[in-house]
Amino acid sequence: LGGYLSAGDPAGSAPAAPVAGPKLTVLYGTESGNSEKLADLTVKEAKKRGFSATAKNMSDLAVADLGKVENLLVIVSTWGDGDPPETAVAFHKDLMSTSLTFPKLRYSVCALGDTSYERFCQTGKDVDARLESLGATRLSPRQDCDVDYEDSHRSWLTAALEAFGPVAGATGGAAAAPAFGGFSFAPSATVYDRKNPFAAELSERVLLNGRGTAKETWHYEISLEGSGISYEPGDALAIVPQNAPDVVEGILKAAKLTGTEAVELNGSGTKSLAEALRDDLDITALSKQVLTKLQAFTKSKNLTKLLAEDSKDQLKDYLWGRWIADAIADFLPKGLSAADLVSALRKLPSRLYSIASSPLAHPGEVHLTVSSVRYNAHGQPRKGVASTYLADLVGTGDRVGVYANENKNFRLPASGDTPVIMIGPGTGVAPFRAFVEHRAALGHAGKSWLFFGDQRYMYDFLYQVEWQEHLKNGALSKLDVAFSRDQPEKVYVQHRMHDRAAELYAWLQEGAHLYVCGDASRMAHDVNEALLDIVAKQGGKSKEAAEAYVEELKKAKRYQRDVY
Ligand code: 2AM
Repeated sequence: LGGYLSAGDPAGSAPAAPVAGPKLTVLYGTESGNSEKLADLTVKEAKKRGFSATAKNMSDLAVADLGKVENLLVIVSTWGDGDPPETAVAFHKDLMSTSLTFPKLRYSVCALGDTSYERFCQTGKDVDARLESLGATRLSPRQDCDVDYEDSHRSWLTAALEAFGPVAGATGGAAAAPAFGGFSFAPSATVYDRKNPFAAELSERVLLNGRGTAKETWHYEISLEGSGISYEPGDALAIVPQNAPDVVEGILKAAKLTGTEAVELNGSGTKSLAEALRDDLDITALSKQVLTKLQAFTKSKNLTKLLAEDSKDQLKDYLWGRWIADAIADFLPKGLSAADLVSALRKLPSRLYSIASSPLAHPGEVHLTVSSVRYNAHGQPRKGVASTYLADLVGTGDRVGVYANENKNFRLPASGDTPVIMIGPGTGVAPFRAFVEHRAALGHAGKSWLFFGDQRYMYDFLYQVEWQEHLKNGALSKLDVAFSRDQPEKVYVQHRMHDRAAELYAWLQEGAHLYVCGDASRMAHDVNEALLDIVAKQGGKSKEAAEAYVEELKKAKRYQRDVY
């Protein structure tokens, strides 16, 4: 038994002859790294239970290989409007269209997502349903996790390993394994995360736009002094925000509460409602999930109607541009108790921003390029939580909760001689500032080419002086810009790519890596279309051959995207 307890536990002192337990494949599809981290944790726990478990990235597994797998745990996130993570797109597509069947496969799916999006956990749902229809057996139900996924993942894993457990007993005696042990979520001294962020000083802030534009893009410099936090270009920094006082006031008013009520939060004891609404709870993002929870506290027929299966379009219309306080005012005009309010709200998620600095160029610092999200809806001013927290509530010298988030899928080429093509309109330019600084600091000689775009040359040319400096000293070889609103017709980065099609294709033929960062909803798609078109025309290829060429670029990690 002792052997089982510590099988796979390097710190264990048990005899080194563990029984080889049943094989378990933990397949993950990850965008920002969360699924990958959970897969590693899952493997660790499965090993403790006597499984011979391995993690596998969807980018490295062919769908046909599932035929060789018996026990499968899938952890996959959903990105943007219901899309698979960039690195899982091909696997997802192949799985959906395969003609193979997997009658021997047993599986369970843990889906990561964000309830503030309509197609919540769509990729996990797709994989779960598809595996069943291909003849596989769902051994334990799918778990859909919101942005605060830790507890949901934990309960899924407990149930899934229990379900796979008896099989383990039949083949290797793991049924006699001890009760499922605790998880090791506790942060060590130097690991900062959502629960334990580093309180970093905001050392500098500069407004990057000139006066006279609607845009408000800030350059923030944050000190990592004393944190031990390290990062590479391509990584992101998570900001743990607070809700703004006026927004807290708004929801208190709608709920007819004062804020002085004492409330109990999972794991963090008792505090005042106002404090919990400021620091711990998502009080703005209205979703079907929040409405469903609010429904328990009201007899509102209108709300019931809105949540009915046949009013999907009405629900979508209602959710657009509304905050949770609006829904409370609409459906619970008498308000609700502090405890009920708290129970309807999810945890306040932290926000990831692509890092704009190289640690070599700015030791002990991290820079961000953040556009403040502000708009009007239903006659009310609205704002993004984290972007306006930084812009309005944190002053230089103040501290802000941060932690680093690795992004292995957005990396400079291994060789400093490899050319890089960077497409980053708007704040999408952030990681390319880091790339160019980093290569310059390392003395790397590879060519580099930036496509930048924004609304107006006069006001919105982010980091203009730096790019000109880099062009002069050779750190940047080429710069093409697209200012969309300086002329009657829209000019976007993809138009500039078309203008330079021959040279762009020549760079790709020389082995260049191509990076895209920025808007996922339209820009990344349009840039991808432009790329396909350029490859087809310049390479004299059919549509299919161009698609295969671009697919190969992706497989070789020469076409990487960081889109949001
Ligand atoms: P617009 O605001 O004038 O439409 C950064 O936000 C830049 O990206 C802006 O110039 C914006 O132009 C532009 N942009 C908007 N939609 C785009 C798309 N589909 N492809 C590329 N750039 C786009």
